[in-house]
Amino acid sequence: MERNQSVDPTYEEPILETSLRPKSFDQYIGQENIKKNLKILIQAAVERKETIDHLLFYGPPGLGKTTLANIIAHEMNVNIKTTSGPAIERPGDLAAILTNLQEHDILFIDEIHRLSKGVEEVLYPSMEDYKLDIIIGKGPSARSIRLDIPKFTLIGATTKAGMLSSPLRDRFGYVAKLNFYTQEELLQIIYHSANTLGIKIEKEAGVALAKRSRGTPRLTNRLLKRVRDWAQVQKSPNITTDIVNEAVESLGVDKLGLDEHDRMLLATIIEKFNGGPVGLDTIAAALSEDSNTIEDVVEPYLLQLGLIDRTARGRVATKAAYTHLGLKAPATSNIEQKNLF
Ligand SMILES: Nc1ncnc2c1ncn2[C@@H]1O[C@H](COP(=O)(O)OP(=O)(O)O)[C@@H](O)[C@H]1O
Ligand SMILES: [Mg+2]
Repeated sequence: MERNQSVDPTYEEPILETSLRPKSFDQYIGQENIKKNLKILIQAAVERKETIDHLLFYGPPGLGKTTLANIIAHEMNVNIKTTSGPAIERPGDLAAILTNLQEHDILFIDEIHRLSKGVEEVLYPSMEDYKLDIIIGKGPSARSIRLDIPKFTLIGATTKAGMLSSPLRDRFGYVAKLNFYTQEELLQIIYHSANTLGIKIEKEAGVALAKRSRGTPRLTNRLLKRVRDWAQVQKSPNITTDIVNEAVESLGVDKLGLDEHDRMLLATIIEKFNGGPVGLDTIAAALSEDSNTIEDVVEPYLLQLGLIDRTARGRVATKAAYTHLGLKAPATSNIEQKNLF
C-alpha cells in the first residue's frame, strides 16, 4: 500500500526540512540524555584539540538523526560531508570520499547498515587508525599500499542497529538510540515551527496536533503545514482544534496518531491471524509490504503505544489494539498467555 506523503515518516520534504531544522543544541528539543553526552564529548575534544569519536545514531525515521549530525558539525565548526550506505557502491568510492576530507571533518553516512561488505572492510582501518588500504594492480602483480587519511569523525545513522555487523558497531565510540518524543516536546516543536512559518496556533490545537504526530517531529512539521492550508482555505486567522482534527482526520490519521498502515497491520494480526503470535514475514506477505518497512517504520510506534507485543514466536495484538479498533478482545487469559512467549 502506498503511503500518503503527508503521513509517511520516511519521506523528506526538502524545503520544509531545511527551513525548520534546528541549527544548535538549544533549538534541538528533547533527547536530553543524548544532548548531554554529546556536549561533553564535543567540549572534551575541543579542549584537547582532537577529533571527536565516531558516533552512531539509531532509531525510527524522522526523529532527528540527520539534524543531530549537522548540529555537531556546526558546534565543532567543521565541514560535514553527507552520503549514504547505498550511495557508496565500491571501495573506491569510499576511498575517494575519505581522501578528500580535511582534518576534523565529519563524514555522515545515512543508512549505514546498507554498506556492502567490501566497503565496510575499507572503512574499519580508516576509522581505527586513519589509514586506507588500497590495492593497486590486478592478479599476481597486485599489491596493497597504506595511505594516511585526515583524522575525521564518522557519524552513522540507521533505523536498524541490529543489522550492523558487530565489527562495525564496535568501532563507534558512542552509540545513541533516539526515542519518540513526548507530547510536551512535540508541542514545543509545534510552537517553534509555527513561529518560523508565521502561523498562529491555539494551545489546545497544538496539543491535538502533538497527539497525532506519532511521536515524530518530521510528521509534526508536515501535519502543521497541512493544517495551515486548511486554516487558510477556511479563512481562519488562527489554527483551532477543530481545524487540526478535521485536517488530520482527512489524511487518515486517528486520535492516537495511527494512519491506515498502522491500522491495517493491527487488523491483519487480529483478523487474519487470530491476534497472533504471527511472524513478521507472514504479516508482511499478508499486507504485500516489505518486512523491513514494517519493522523499522510501522512497528516501533505500535510497540511504544503497547498495541502490539513482540514475542519469540511472533507479533501479538494486545487488548489495547482490539479496543482501539473497536473490536472485542478474546478472554484476558488468552492474550496474557500468548504474551508469555
Ligand atoms: N529534536 C528536534 N527538535 C526540533 N525539531 C526536530 C528535532 N528532531 C527533528 N526535528 C525536525 O524533524 C525533521 C526531520 O529530522 P531528521 O533529522 O531529518 O530525522 P532523521 O534523520 O532521524 O530521519 C527536521 O528537519 C526537523 O525539522
Ligand atoms: Mg535522516
